[in-house]
Amino acid sequence: MSVKDQFDALRIEDLAARTGFKWSRYAANGSGILPAWVADMDFPIAEPIRRVVRRLVDRSDLGYCEPPDVGDLPEIFGRRMEEQLGWTVEPERIRFLVNALQGLDLSVMLGSEKGEGIVVQTPIYPPFLGAVAGAGRRLVESPLVRGPDRFEMDLDQLRSVIDRDTRVFMLCNPHNPSGRSWTRSELEAVAELAIEHDLIVLADEIHNELVFPGHQHIVFETLGPEARERTVTITSATKSFNLAGLELALLVFGSEKLKRRFDELPHFVLAHPGILGVEAARAAWRDGGPWLGETVAYLDANRAYLTDFVNRRLPGVVHGPQEATYLYWLDCRGLNLPMAASRFFLKRAQVALNDGAEFGPPDSAPGLEHCARLNFATSRAILGEILERMADAVEKV
Ligand SMILES: Cc1ncc(COP(=O)(O)O)c(C=O)c1O
Repeated sequence: MSVKDQFDALRIEDLAARTGFKWSRYAANGSGILPAWVADMDFPIAEPIRRVVRRLVDRSDLGYCEPPDVGDLPEIFGRRMEEQLGWTVEPERIRFLVNALQGLDLSVMLGSEKGEGIVVQTPIYPPFLGAVAGAGRRLVESPLVRGPDRFEMDLDQLRSVIDRDTRVFMLCNPHNPSGRSWTRSELEAVAELAIEHDLIVLADEIHNELVFPGHQHIVFETLGPEARERTVTITSATKSFNLAGLELALLVFGSEKLKRRFDELPHFVLAHPGILGVEAARAAWRDGGPWLGETVAYLDANRAYLTDFVNRRLPGVVHGPQEATYLYWLDCRGLNLPMAASRFFLKRAQVALNDGAEFGPPDSAPGLEHCARLNFATSRAILGEILERMADAVEKV
């Protein structure tokens, strides 16, 4: 069966029986709720990854995986990044971790002191805010603004909020949840600010291979030597290849200073990926390219369908254009819903979305509760059902 046919054949009853968080939280016990929230794709994983995981399980080959000994994984990752993104990653700059969130937390802690400022562009994937608050750092919020047709950075506002105690710029590239794939000139403006204010740039590029035709992912550290020497890039195979439960991520250090600090951490506080994560990532980056190509094509068709549907059936919702990621931001303020958007769609449409209020700090996010994030990485039929339910609920208000 082709990848597309496999995706088209997804059945709600099979998905609802899954153990993972996305389905089990809402769809257990025949609730009828369709989950379109957390960032897992509903799609079956790539055959080369299935084969390797099956082999490990069949042989009970699930023993220790000594952390630094990830074999040729750095080279395999480097080869894929060079081919796909024109990014040269020397193996000695890579350190492996369990997940990207660990990388975000650690980099904030290593790159700044208590009370120092960390720039975050809101609305933002909520753990960015958690990393700042959890480490006792000060949030330097820079809300994205709606330009003529898409979200944009507000460079004047950014210049006005970065002060002498600001240390880190947390960049989400591509950006979750706006769906933006930042352009070279936007990234150059960030680099300029970072250089001028001597900031460390923490570039979360976990969605770097989920970029749609017409857009190109630009790796922040490739902008030039001055950008690279202040950057730590976080990425992983888990988002593109749908392996979040296998837990492997990596940091690529451009900044020598941060790499030294990282290497001084006691070995066992770090938590290292296990054998399933390592072998799955190796199969993904080495042999998963064709599957990923077909997956991005499927997502691309879903995004066109979704955009057209929202334009026709949910007028008043501000959305798109989706340049990257399968996470779609719906600004429902124009609908005047009687309650927060995610609550409304859960109660009245039986669709679980992420609550927009979580994508900004509580004190400075007026109206974010009237926004919601929708995950469109499911079959066209299920996406259609999700959207029909949402439109019907809105029409009844
Ligand atoms: C921007 C971004 N960073 C990090 C993560 C989480 O990555 P991990 O599962 O490796 O912690 C996500 C998950 O959706 C994400 O969207």
